Amino acid sequence: MSTKIALGAQWGDEGKAKVVDYLTLDSDIVVRYQGGANAGHTVKVGDVEFVFHMIPSGIMHQDKICVIGNGVVVDPQALLDEIDDLHTKGFSCEGRLKVSQSAHLVLPYHKLLDRAGEESKGGVTIGTTGRGIGPAYRDKVERTHGIRVMDLFDARRLTEKLRAAVDVKNEIIKKIYNLEPLEFAPIIDSYASYAERLRPFVSDISIFLNEAIDSGKNVLFEGAQGTLLDVDHGTYPYVTSSNTTAGAACTGSGVGPTRIEEVIGVTKSYTTRVGNGPFPTEMVGEDGDHLRKLGNEFGATTGRARRCGWFDVPILRSAKRLNGLTSIALTRLDTLDTMERLKVCTSYEYKGERLDQFPSDLEILADCQPIYEEIEGWRSSTAHIRSYQELPSLARDYVELLVERIGLPASLISVGPERHATIEMD
Ligand code: IMO
Ligand code: MG
Repeated sequence: MSTKIALGAQWGDEGKAKVVDYLTLDSDIVVRYQGGANAGHTVKVGDVEFVFHMIPSGIMHQDKICVIGNGVVVDPQALLDEIDDLHTKGFSCEGRLKVSQSAHLVLPYHKLLDRAGEESKGGVTIGTTGRGIGPAYRDKVERTHGIRVMDLFDARRLTEKLRAAVDVKNEIIKKIYNLEPLEFAPIIDSYASYAERLRPFVSDISIFLNEAIDSGKNVLFEGAQGTLLDVDHGTYPYVTSSNTTAGAACTGSGVGPTRIEEVIGVTKSYTTRVGNGPFPTEMVGEDGDHLRKLGNEFGATTGRARRCGWFDVPILRSAKRLNGLTSIALTRLDTLDTMERLKVCTSYEYKGERLDQFPSDLEILADCQPIYEEIEGWRSSTAHIRSYQELPSLARDYVELLVERIGLPASLISVGPERHATIEMD
């Protein structure tokens, strides 16, 4: 039996999907537990590349079970599109995809209100993905208009709940945003048809997972977004609307914390961020453009250019603390192969004082100057390397600098998007 969480240690897009796909080799079950179709998880197997928004990244292993837990906000259209796309490419989800009956649904008014809310803010937007995430979690927490997967299978209940919700949302859509109200009929029709298609996948996930753990199965929990996008611990308000830190694996799947053995913080060998908010090690201008080009740093969900910067150790120190990390998985080392020199931010300077920890107050963060250690680049390709000892010694120096400053071992290093472009550490 083994239970591991693999989650993002930075601002999302850390290469979680690649790591999860690799770790799935040793797992029986892979579980998504928070977020929704805001995630963009890219998996490359052979020449086939998939971007998953809803389905766990372990699905490309045909004999593994994938689970969408209660903590996820489920966009049924996005989910069915993914199931169909996988089917066309020869991967079947029948009998091995499970969706929690307690998960909340994303509805068309959530997406509309997400975009309208952002547009009405003027200059200081969050830069959401527009997938309806905030409004869907708002309805869940607010408890009046939340609609859950289980509601899909009772026509009377679904109609009543949806009618009440659409009426209220339309008032907001008209009166606050001055937009055209949504029609009820097409929404109920499409959700009734989703119900039919989703029914075979839906069950009680908490019972399933706990029994699986009891019987010795290996379960891998796949985080979406990253630690700094956590609604409590991230760079609020420039965050997503769920907890992205390790505790969410438990609340979002119905498994107790005593059952989790390992927590792996997936981190890029540098830093990126999409959307707005402070970013101390951001490289602006040509340097940032150069790194963006090297890493092809464009969003998998929205296509937006990602902001790029140097590795930031204080971020990883907070990820270690907030998640109880047991190791890091360092991704995209190969992206740095051609860099002449590399900088690593090991602490910040704030008003003449040294800060080793990432501040939770955004105003302090915005005034923090990174303190860098510089190191020579290795300037040779690492993409073909499969063992740590074969890495150029300057690349090992870089890895060791990070590992030493963070205070955690690396359990794996990724040197390319393909499953086997992976170095396993002892
Ligand atoms: P994966 O799982 C990077 C960011 C958005 C925005 C903020 C809020 O692929 O790493 P939301 O739509 O969630 O309300 O947007 O969060 N964001 C992500 N950034 N990777 C993601 O997912 C993200 N999901 C949301 O850009 O700043
Ligand atoms: Mg992504």
